[in-house]
Amino acid sequence: MNGSVPVRALDARKVYAGTGEESVHALDGVSLEVRAGEMVALVGPSGCGKSTLLNLVGCVDLPSGGTIEVDGRATSSLDDDALTALRRERIGTVFQFFNLLPAMTIAENVALPLVLQRRPRAEIDSRVTAALEAVGIGNKARSYPSQVSGGQMQRAAIARATVHDPAIVLADEPTGNLDSQSGATVLALLRTFASNGQAILMATHSTEAASVCDRIIRMQDGRIA
Ligand SMILES: Nc1ncnc2c1ncn2[C@@H]1O[C@H](COP(=O)(O)OP(=O)(O)OP(=O)(O)O)[C@@H](O)[C@H]1O
Ligand SMILES: [Mg+2]
Repeated sequence: MNGSVPVRALDARKVYAGTGEESVHALDGVSLEVRAGEMVALVGPSGCGKSTLLNLVGCVDLPSGGTIEVDGRATSSLDDDALTALRRERIGTVFQFFNLLPAMTIAENVALPLVLQRRPRAEIDSRVTAALEAVGIGNKARSYPSQVSGGQMQRAAIARATVHDPAIVLADEPTGNLDSQSGATVLALLRTFASNGQAILMATHSTEAASVCDRIIRMQDGRIA
């Protein structure tokens, strides 16, 4: 259903109840689309709502108003099980601090989305091997995150975000902790996934990262600027 527009926000709003009397309007009516095969940058000052929007598209949180559609399905209309399934099957996420589990090997980290989907062991093994090869760290499968470089950790995180062939890859400052060479590698990998038909939505403060995207969406105070 509506596979060509995996991400759609329609007047999406998010209000966080404040600790004091003041509530925060983190998203104040955002509408946008990301088509399959498109790599889109979300830019704007700290606090403008980029991560909030990624959390809504990633089905981690629901909008307070308006609609977020993932694969043509309005997230607010789904029950918890359907929302979890949508998140596990259709979304991959890459974070600034990689978020690999330290007690698991690189291969075990990358396998997680498939383990959560209860795929057969043989399928998991072959897909993990292919995903690690695709990001150029096939030789690090048995290493632990602490035993590889930051750039390699982020490549592992990209393998984990894409091993289950999601329709949408969300990236929140994926190059924020990397030197420029590793950052360029990460951006090139994300580009490759876009060329394969995935929709990539990346929040970034880096003009270099934004410049490799097909489109730049600027945000300011919870709105599209
Ligand atoms: N869980 C939360 N509870 C309350 N307020 C929040 C919460 N998460 C974010 N906010 C507030 O919502 C606004 C938007 O935050 P958000 O994290 O989306 O910004 P951002 O654009 O990702 O910023 P940065 O570039 O610094 O990562 C900010 O004012 C922030 O303080
Ligand atoms: Mg953020």
